[in-house]
This record gives sequence, structure tokens and C-alpha cells, in this order.
Amino acid sequence: MTTTEMAPADAVAPDSTDEPALVAWLATMRAEHPVWRDRYGMYHVFRRQDVLTVLRDPARFSSDKGRLAPATASVSRGMLTQIDPPEHRRLRSVVSTAFTPRRVADLEPRIREITRRLLDALPDDRSFDLVDALAFPLPVTVIAEMLGLPEADHPLFRAWADRLFSMQVDDPTDPALGERVAAAMADIAAYLTARVQERRAASTDDLVSALVAAGLDDEEAANFSLLLLLAGHITTTVLLGNAVRTFAEHPGVWEGLRADPTTIPAAVEEVLRLRSPFTATARVTTEAVGIAGTTIPAERFVLAWMLSANHDESAFADPEAFVPDRGIGGQRHGARGADAGGAAQTAFGHGVHFCLGAPLARLEARVALEELTTRYDALSPARDAMGDLQPYPRGVLGVRRLPVKGVRSYTR
Ligand code: HEM
Repeated sequence: MTTTEMAPADAVAPDSTDEPALVAWLATMRAEHPVWRDRYGMYHVFRRQDVLTVLRDPARFSSDKGRLAPATASVSRGMLTQIDPPEHRRLRSVVSTAFTPRRVADLEPRIREITRRLLDALPDDRSFDLVDALAFPLPVTVIAEMLGLPEADHPLFRAWADRLFSMQVDDPTDPALGERVAAAMADIAAYLTARVQERRAASTDDLVSALVAAGLDDEEAANFSLLLLLAGHITTTVLLGNAVRTFAEHPGVWEGLRADPTTIPAAVEEVLRLRSPFTATARVTTEAVGIAGTTIPAERFVLAWMLSANHDESAFADPEAFVPDRGIGGQRHGARGADAGGAAQTAFGHGVHFCLGAPLARLEARVALEELTTRYDALSPARDAMGDLQPYPRGVLGVRRLPVKGVRSYTR
């Protein structure tokens, strides 16, 4: 009997709503069932080395999930995350120049201006929802401006993103899944198709126009825009919420960041490791592959758990602890601060699909936290008003609401 067969196939991975249970389960799986086949026949991979093996080998671990779920094929056209090399390389190059560290660094003044405007609008001495006030509007404004979408439409994006990310996908092989995803995306797809057609008629200086100019058809360009719009904000929203929560849970951290803002990038990296916004990402095997002594047959879903890789004790000592100066390496693509050369966190993925927006996400997080720590002596969860933080159910580790109370020793 292999390890996989001995693993409890009828078990269910804990939901992200119960973070301690999820983290404890991942530790058990790393130790006892490093490759686990669940009740749907999907294989889960937990150890850091195995997660990296999956993500760095697109030939054997394909991102084209349409292979197993043909109903999702039309929503996958133009979706970078669903496409394998060599087509992936061609599509990614269409927008990649807009996301290089240098181009992204040029956005810093605008990101700071938006952040200040949002924070200036907050009432003094009152608690507020950090997600509503900053963590949502900042990244959505930035990516919508890059795409050339009007500010008045931003509230729509949040409703659409919430609907998609709240979808409970238990069985990825369910033939009805494609229809459910397409239904959840119908409004946003129609909206973006209209913007694509406008740019086709009259090109402007934005990413939607760049997609059209590169020869993408309406469906491809709308799907690509959709990916940028969704990937470009929800994860950064979650990262900012996770950062403020994590700092508040650890006395002295906020004060330390205030005293020396150059330590903010390293602290952000540690938040990404500890509370990775995307917990896992899926691939499909193109042939039988052996991992950690288990053979995964061809044409099977494989879920690579990035959150688990980031908690792997073989790479990170005392992985459940928040250690802002633990010296995480791999802060490539524009993070400020020293690359300490330790093991890199994998919250942005790995290999050819490594997050295109990582430099932007890191910049937004740094600017937002610089502005917050400058303004507030302390920013702690408003426990009385805490209510329900509305954590995302599955796939995303983070909250939809974060009531906080800011303490300021000076007035603007
Ligand atoms: C903290 C924030 C973010 C996190 C944790 C994150 C995470 C990820 C991960 C894990 C992947 C790889 C998925 C896979 O391999 O299947 C990815 C890909 C991607 N991300 Fe991000 N992301 C973040 C912010 C952003 C931002 C701000 C953008 C801006 C546009 C963005 C755009 C993309 C795109 C376009 C891809 C697809 C890349 C490809 O397939 O080649 N992300 N992201």
C-alpha cells in the first residue's frame, strides 16, 4: 500500500475560514501523507520541494484545466493562468513590459497619492473597515487605471470578484462547474467585452488597448482583462488585510515598522509566507509522474499547496511563528530591502506562471503600510465592532471585512 492509499480519502481539507485547523492539517499532511488523493480523485501535494517540482514543470503539470473540464474551455481562452508554453510565453509578453519592476516603480507617486486620498477621507478617532477604506479601493483603482476602466465602475468589480471568489468549488471534476463559473462571470465578461470593442474602435494608452493591438480577439482580450482585473486586486486586498491583522496580533511590530520603515518589505514577505493569500493552485498531469514515492496517473488534477510549502519546517524554522526579520530570500522583481538569501516564500507561485503582478503587489503593500504606519501610532482590530470578519471560504486565506481602530498622537 502506498502512502496515498493509506491516507484518508474521505477526509476533507479544512476550510480557510478555520485557519488554525487548516494550518494544523497541512502540517499533518506534510508529515504523514505528502501526496494525498481526495474523494474526487484529485491529488494534493504539500511539501515545499514537491510543490516546487509541480510548478516548475509545465510539460508534465499542465495549467490547461480545460483538458479535464471541457466546459470551462471558453472561459479559459486568453486566461494566462490556464495556458501552457509556448502559447503562454507569447500571451504573457503582450503585457509583461507594463509589469516590470522599472515600469511599476514609476507608479509609486500615483499609488501614494491614491493611498493618501483614501486615508484623508477617514474620520479621526473612529473605527473603520480597513478593507472598505483602503485594502479594496487602492489595488482596484490602480489596476483599473492601468486597464483604462472608469472609476465610477469600481464598485461593480468588487461585487463580481466577491461572487467569483465565494464560489464553493468542492468537486473540480463536476461537469456543471464550467456553467457555474460562466454564469458567475457573465456580467463582468459582457462589461469587459464592451470595453474591448470600444478600444478596437478607438485605441487609447492602456492595457486593454495593448491586448487588442497584439491581435487578441474579443473573447481572449476580455478574458485576459478579467484575469488582470481580478488577480490585480483581490489578492492584494487580502494581503493588506492579512498584514494589518498579523501586525496587530504581535505586540511591538507596528512600532518597529514605524521606527524603521525600511523593514516593511521584509515584514510583507513574512506575511505572504505565513498567510499566503492564494492557498493552492491546480495543475493537470500530462503523463504518469512519481512524487514522494507515489505515482500520480496521467490526466489527474494536482493541487499544489503554496500555503503548505510556505509552512514547511524543512525550509522555515518554527514556521507557525511570525518573524518579520527571518530573512526570507527571493524578493526578486522590485522588492526594496535586502534579499537575505534564505528560502523564498512561494505565495506568488513559481516557474513560468510566477505572478506577473508581484512587483506591483509588493509596491502597493509597501506604500500602503508606509502611509498607515506614518499616520497611526497603532492600528488594532476594533474588537467591540469586530462582528464577522467574513473570511473567504476556500482557496483564499483572508478576510472581507477588517474593522480597525487607529490611534494617532498628532493631527494632520
Ligand atoms: C499579494 C498579491 C498577489 C498574490 C498572492 C498573487 C498570487 C499569484 C499566484 C500564486 C500566481 C500563479 C498562479 C499559478 O501558477 O497557477 C499568480 C499569477 C498571476 N498574477 Fe498574481 N498575485 C498577486 C497580485 C497580483 C497583481 C497585483 C496582479 C496585477 C495584475 C497579478 C496578476 C497575475 C497574473 C496576470 C498572473 C498569471 C501569470 C501567468 O500565468 O503567467 N497578481 N499570482
